Amino acid sequence: MNAPTPPWWQTAIIYQLYPLSFQDSNGDGMGDLPGILGRLDYLASLNISAVWLSPIFPSPMRDFGYDVADYTGVHPWFGTLSDFDRLLKGLHSHGMKLILDLVPNHTSDQHPWFLESRRSRINLKRDWYLWRDPAPGGGPPNNWLSFFGGPAWSFDKVTGQYYLHQFTPEQPELNLRQAAVLGALLDAMRFWLDRGVDGFRVDVPWLLIKDAEFRDEPENPNWDGIDPHGRLLHNRTAHQPELHAIVRAMRTVTDSYPGDRVLIGETNVPDDELVQYYGTARDEFHLPFNFRLIYARWDAREIRRLIETYEAILPQDAWPNWVLGNHDQPRIASRAGADQARVAAMLLLTLRGTPSCYYGDELGMENVTVPRERMRDPQALRQPEAAGVFNRDSARTPLPWDGLANAGFTREGVEPWLPLGGDGPIRNVARQSEDSQSMLAFFRTVTSLRQRHPALNRGDYESVETAADGIFAYTRAAGGQRILIVLNFACCEHLLDLSELADGAEILLSTGMQRTGRVELRRLRVLANEGLVLHL
Ligand code: NOJ
Repeated sequence: MNAPTPPWWQTAIIYQLYPLSFQDSNGDGMGDLPGILGRLDYLASLNISAVWLSPIFPSPMRDFGYDVADYTGVHPWFGTLSDFDRLLKGLHSHGMKLILDLVPNHTSDQHPWFLESRRSRINLKRDWYLWRDPAPGGGPPNNWLSFFGGPAWSFDKVTGQYYLHQFTPEQPELNLRQAAVLGALLDAMRFWLDRGVDGFRVDVPWLLIKDAEFRDEPENPNWDGIDPHGRLLHNRTAHQPELHAIVRAMRTVTDSYPGDRVLIGETNVPDDELVQYYGTARDEFHLPFNFRLIYARWDAREIRRLIETYEAILPQDAWPNWVLGNHDQPRIASRAGADQARVAAMLLLTLRGTPSCYYGDELGMENVTVPRERMRDPQALRQPEAAGVFNRDSARTPLPWDGLANAGFTREGVEPWLPLGGDGPIRNVARQSEDSQSMLAFFRTVTSLRQRHPALNRGDYESVETAADGIFAYTRAAGGQRILIVLNFACCEHLLDLSELADGAEILLSTGMQRTGRVELRRLRVLANEGLVLHL
């Protein structure tokens, strides 16, 4: 009997695209939807299954779209709703899905709901946000902190109360204990689902509900003394049990549409909490994002340990997923080192579980140094340099398309919204497309392998003992097919004896793209920083 066909998002490769930095079509220095539409062939050539767009909604852009002023529109920087419809149609006709960002925890302070809410204490939308009186002696109502520095409360003179915001003060937090607020957000989901989007990535779900009594948070005894937000333990603002009912409501809406729409959570939380976001009846997120690879020390033993731990704690019927980079984190080629960029991509794209790739990593893009005067990221700008906060701009810079002016991202003479990396003339799509051994060529080959081989896109996972320091190996198997992956995290060559698995194997792909043919597993040579995919 044939195994049932899994839903598309289990065998999918997700590609996160940062719309401001993908392709400018109208010469304003910012990427837009028509720009993406003009690059559909490129997206299709990456063998990805779905594009996740970071927010494209009307917004004052205090947090680059994560401050939404209208959940059912398109910011003019990106184009119009008709451009959106064209893009959705174009992606679908190229065999790709579209996932949108949903930001339910907070709105912009320019959202009509907040404008109403702040008008008076008796306004009908007053309770849509979290308003509190000052503390008895004056000052913020409690000690809660913003992730972006300073207190999580801002005072509003008009009504003499404070409102809560855990990001910028221009991102007031919604009161999701109010059924009408949840109802309005679910309606926004329906708006996009009706248009045909294939799912959502939900922003900061672990923050959706706060302590009903607004109690202080305790000091963190293990504080590193550097990260200002880490000074407290966030047991009153994060991971409150009532939030799961909200995620379930979002899932119910998602599931009420045909075609296996997907609900993904930005679950930036510890292991024991992460698994809870699948829901006790697997009725919450299909994919609670797993950021283990983002925070991992880049070391073979460490990576193996975290993969095995994650595999072991996954509840029954919970589908795994892996994220290697996103718009909030240093780029993988900078984190792991340029020499390890291919090994990292091979790892992400051969693990069990849906991989999420970040735009530009297919070229091996590195963090770009953004001078202070061009910095945009509110997280970095609002905190002292000494706090060592990562400037997220560095990982959000324009994609270099070619070696021409402005790397083909925007017109000549226009200043791109963030600076291009200095290596654009060498590291760009056009140049790498001509080179059959480039990072881009490698990326396309490994995605194509994953898409073609059930062992890779849905097969079982098993670690392999190698006794070699710096090597991590595992097999993936499905329907009688067995694939071995050997990754060298070290910068020295290794000779391995893996003859317990088989006598020989066929190289399907090497990170350098030069090695092919059959190899003997009794004496398997793995070059420095090399990864191999082998058919057993
Ligand atoms: C998480 C998003 O990924 C990040 O970019 C944003 O600043 C915060 N949530 C606030 O929405």
